[in-house]
Amino acid sequence: MPDNPEPNHDEPSNSRSAILERSAEPDAPARTASRLAVAAGDELEGSGVRFSGVTKRFGDLTVLDQLDMEVAPGEKMVIIGPSGSGKTTILRVLMTLERPEAGTVEVGGEQLYHEERNGQLVKASEKHVRQVRRKISMVFQHFNLFPHMTALDNVSFGPRKVLGLSKDEANERAARLLEVVGLGDKFGEHPARLSGGQKQRVAIARALAMEPEVMLFDEVTSALDPELVGEVLNVLRDLAENTTMTMLLVTHEMGFAREIGDRVVMFDGGRVVEQGPPTQIFGDPQEQRTRDFLRAVLDRE
Ligand SMILES: Nc1ncnc2c1ncn2[C@@H]1O[C@H](COP(=O)(O)OP(=O)(O)O)[C@@H](O)[C@H]1O
Ligand SMILES: [Mg+2]
Repeated sequence: MPDNPEPNHDEPSNSRSAILERSAEPDAPARTASRLAVAAGDELEGSGVRFSGVTKRFGDLTVLDQLDMEVAPGEKMVIIGPSGSGKTTILRVLMTLERPEAGTVEVGGEQLYHEERNGQLVKASEKHVRQVRRKISMVFQHFNLFPHMTALDNVSFGPRKVLGLSKDEANERAARLLEVVGLGDKFGEHPARLSGGQKQRVAIARALAMEPEVMLFDEVTSALDPELVGEVLNVLRDLAENTTMTMLLVTHEMGFAREIGDRVVMFDGGRVVEQGPPTQIFGDPQEQRTRDFLRAVLDRE
């Protein structure tokens, strides 16, 4: 698995300065036919995702409580909510890094954890889980790059080992993706010699190299120095605006969420508190918990 991560329960960083100003920056490159979208294989149709009654517990702690949630094909869904509310767990369940105790998860109309046998939903084989999970890629807060591999090898590893591309094909794909995320001169570098923003762009290229139909982003700018956030958000913005991939993004970048989200879901205590278009959630939140959360996040500026 190219993106086999370490468990990661880190709290988000507290530096939230100038959230709105930062993502309102007018310096994003002009969005003509995006090279990134082309390199990412934009003919892929995004898949829908459906959680039905999903419960995830860690010991006595119920982190996801019979969660029902649907994401439309191609939708860019932003998940917000306080630390510890289960946002990462939602993504990790979808990525098959955590197995739910109850409920079903569907990706592109296929059951992720179940198979139908004689008209009955039964627990899926590992082979089935792996095959459905191939539609999904994830980018992590702490990059989770392979430290002993170059940038190029980090990106080409999955296509070779999981998708079965030849070394030349995989390297060609990796080079193309690294070029368009602005790392054309870093193919041979190891992660230790890259900045946080560069590491995260390698991680995005690595996730894209699997040609996913669903991409998961877990606070991918939270571990970055403030001046490096913009270069990563520019890549995400490009993907959001120019690809048909389905995207689930957990973020505290509220200006960015407002800009690229088709829908914002406010999550707390393992449940959806409120959801709607960004204009509604940020402009006219209906729930007190949403108002309190937004005030706390925006006050940190
Ligand atoms: N592997 C784990 N083992 C035990 N507890 C966990 C594990 N992963 C997450 N948790 C707990 O589950 C809760 C939700 O975590 P998480 O999904 O990471 O929240 P968020 O991403 O919203 O901050 C937290 O209380 C966290 O400590
Ligand atoms: Mg988290």
